Amino acid sequence: MKSCSKPRVGYISVLYLAAVSSLLAQVCSAVKREDFKTCEQSAFCNRHRVFAETMLKNTQALDKGSTIPKTASPYSVLENSVSLDGHTLVASVQHSEEKVPLRFELSFMESGVVRVRAQEEEPLVPRFDDTQKLVLRDEGTALPYASPGSIELVTETIDQVTTHTVSYLKGNSTFSVRMAESPWSLDYLVDNKPSIRLNTKGFFRFEYLRQKPASDEADTASGEWEEKFKTWTDTKPNGPESFGMDISFSGFEHVYGIPEHSSPLSLKDTRGGDKNAYDQPYRLYNLDVFEYELDNPMALYGSIPFMVAHNADSTVGVFWMNAAETWIDVTREKSNALGSLFSRSSTKQIPAVNTHWVSESGVLDVFLLPGPNTADVYRQYAELVEPTPLPRSFSLGYHQCRWNYIDQEDVLSVSSKLEEHKIPYDVIWLDIEHTDGKRYFTWDSAKFPDPVAMQNELAQAGHKLVNVVDPHIKRDSAYRIWKEASDNGYFVKTREGSEDFQGWCWPGDSNWVDYFNPDACKWISEQFHIDHYNQSTDNLFVWNDMNEPSVFNGPEITMDKDARHHGGWEHRDVHNIFGMLYHKATADGLRTRESPSKRPFVLSRAYFAGSQRYGAIWTGDNTAEWSHLQASIPMVLSNNVAGLHFIGADVGGFFGNPDQKLLTRWYQLGIWYPFFRAHAHIDTKRREPWLLGEPYLSYIRDAIRERYRLLPFWYTLFREASITGMPVVRPMWIEFPSETKLFAEQDAFMVGSAIMVVPATDSNTNQAIDVVFPSQENWYDIKTHASYIGPTKRQFSVDLSSTLVFARGGSVVVTRERHRSSSDLMKRDPFTVYVYVGRNGTASGRLYVDDGDTYDYEQGAFIERELSFSGAKLTSRASTLTKDTSAYRDYLKKMAKVRVERLVVVGLRNPLTKATVVENGVTREIELSYKGAANDAECVVRDPAVHIGEDWGITLS
Ligand code: NOJ
Repeated sequence: MKSCSKPRVGYISVLYLAAVSSLLAQVCSAVKREDFKTCEQSAFCNRHRVFAETMLKNTQALDKGSTIPKTASPYSVLENSVSLDGHTLVASVQHSEEKVPLRFELSFMESGVVRVRAQEEEPLVPRFDDTQKLVLRDEGTALPYASPGSIELVTETIDQVTTHTVSYLKGNSTFSVRMAESPWSLDYLVDNKPSIRLNTKGFFRFEYLRQKPASDEADTASGEWEEKFKTWTDTKPNGPESFGMDISFSGFEHVYGIPEHSSPLSLKDTRGGDKNAYDQPYRLYNLDVFEYELDNPMALYGSIPFMVAHNADSTVGVFWMNAAETWIDVTREKSNALGSLFSRSSTKQIPAVNTHWVSESGVLDVFLLPGPNTADVYRQYAELVEPTPLPRSFSLGYHQCRWNYIDQEDVLSVSSKLEEHKIPYDVIWLDIEHTDGKRYFTWDSAKFPDPVAMQNELAQAGHKLVNVVDPHIKRDSAYRIWKEASDNGYFVKTREGSEDFQGWCWPGDSNWVDYFNPDACKWISEQFHIDHYNQSTDNLFVWNDMNEPSVFNGPEITMDKDARHHGGWEHRDVHNIFGMLYHKATADGLRTRESPSKRPFVLSRAYFAGSQRYGAIWTGDNTAEWSHLQASIPMVLSNNVAGLHFIGADVGGFFGNPDQKLLTRWYQLGIWYPFFRAHAHIDTKRREPWLLGEPYLSYIRDAIRERYRLLPFWYTLFREASITGMPVVRPMWIEFPSETKLFAEQDAFMVGSAIMVVPATDSNTNQAIDVVFPSQENWYDIKTHASYIGPTKRQFSVDLSSTLVFARGGSVVVTRERHRSSSDLMKRDPFTVYVYVGRNGTASGRLYVDDGDTYDYEQGAFIERELSFSGAKLTSRASTLTKDTSAYRDYLKKMAKVRVERLVVVGLRNPLTKATVVENGVTREIELSYKGAANDAECVVRDPAVHIGEDWGITLS
């Protein structure tokens, strides 16, 4: 971390020290760490961490010389309490001294996912348990649990340890879950190997709800009944109610996910002997962190408690479904397998990643995803929380944003400048200054005298507008939105429950709508309807910012934990889900503003597991520094690993002024973020691409055009994600699961399975970059088609005009190559098909196209083609998901003229002269051009004129 000698000016000061706001532009990368809690300052985290240390010591002492795993865990299953009820195994578990029975439920799903739930059998007051309704598919009501007959329970006692094992077969894998009675522990065995292990370290601890002792006895030192942080006091009406558990990934050395942090892709240790280890656990608590620091486990704007472990044989996952503040410790160990209940004869050293999860409140509700391969894990996760739905197609284009485009004229001039410089873009954005005094849903009428005309003018050129609509509502009785929410009692309440919770944000004194109140949600959704949102059109989309929520004068810049939500729940119970509910309400509003509905587009800063359903996310306020450019890669990948696909970082860096080189490089990387938006702080210099001059303008234009050329490929990837849950951008290990050297790779990544990007992220103009070409496959430079055969490592020298992007042999990639000013204008353009021949002479890929706007695809109005190349013949046929519905036929008619205007086959060694095209029984012959030799040979068939919706074959000879 760099030190900062200039005074820090935070958001609070911005409100009151507008005169010095330009100081904000003086970037000195200094997060104000003292604004945010460490684990030691978060009472429940500290209690669990201290407990874990004690357990570790006691367990080590116990374990000596023992052949059976023993932990000092005080929790055991009560005698005769275990039963299998349908798909759920129920057990009572109790602490040896506390004597408060906990009801454990292990539910088995068809997919092999096991859900573990625990809470007091009779909690003193109800624990918040609606996370499942807000996060799980169909509110958790329709999860595909295993049919009762398909699972079997075996109870046995070996060496005085009684275990209950539930096993079932799934495909070629055997899944079994073995619960030991005393101490309580649980092992998920995949193909007889313990993979996910709970409480084998003895860290399980459940703080049962209790009566508050007489005040002089209440243990304030440990923060159980009250906790202070700086000037804030968190009252804890329910007292201690947290829980924690160790989860070990046995046989694994790498774990990934649990965004949002600025840490490396392969998660670092947070304790133990590793010299690179952090000294704090990873924290999940949605926060607005000013000038966040890199390589740090501090909490950021979003939280997804989903972790994936991968080794050369398998991939497994854990989804810890809890919306309260959560901390996760990670430590790696190598242990002797001797002593394991399951392989007592072996003495092999097996690695493990031990994790320790702690949440402040709610119910323990954790899903164990057994894989065993990556695609299985993503299918299993998507089954729980739904995959990313198909986005509106324009939203995959380029977004031009800054805080702020000053007025209507500025907006239209930026738009026409982009057109003049032949830079395609889809969306221009308006930040908070477009409003009347930060009253969202209003316009500053001096700057925006005719917003409708502006939106229409943009629409005519195929562009859209996005307005920011933040969740804080200015307290002003003359402001309709505030008045209606206030009159209807829609705001979050203070701890007493009687007054509206108040805090500061951009508009000054504000209130926050309580999205846990269904009426309030419905009401806020309606505010996005065209008849409510003054001077909005269907060409307007929305940006939800500050929804962690950011409260400038609140503890850790957020809402007090003891603020009250609908139903009496404390904010502590729901904090991490609050932002997602606003995102949802906004998306619902946009979806329902037209009939028939169109797909919404909403960008949100705060997020949770499930946010992928409501729109895109960005990684918040980064800085125009090379280190932030580099850090954006693991950040975007970690989110993709955790099922949040539609994400990107602010291109150019939010704070500070990037120089031309940095900005050029940022565009060259940014086109590979699933969400591609340039954005900048209000006090930075203007940096629209043409302002950089040549040659940078050309480099940036080339980069953005490359994004547009590949839009059909991106859209097809999103289609795949919407069906399979597979990440859109992927760490190398996902595509090359047994190449152990790539397990921590984050300098290169895959876009889908076909394209490898090795970005240049260094300040040197001419960089030497090592590229590792994995697997026994051909790789082709996407521009020159020069080929490389993996596995091999090559060094490339790149200047600012070049980027390292390679197509993987064996893939078919479909593009659109005519330059247009926006993606909307490309919708009827012809396609170019690239075949990158694999080493065995074959290749395959897909193309998915639909209208990009509506939900007609749900009725079958799409074209989805399987493209396969073999024996020098490319064939196109409808995917198995294509159904001959009337919606399909209508769409086919609309697309009847859309054809393939070029076929490029790269890597066919034999010189060829002609292409024989067969479509609808008609055969044609076309000449082709063939150049190059050996692996980089390129064969181009100009205008084969086959139709995208039809079956056809093109044979090269
Ligand atoms: C904070 C956001 O992160 C940033 O992108 C935005 O420009 C400012 N708020 C102002 O709205």
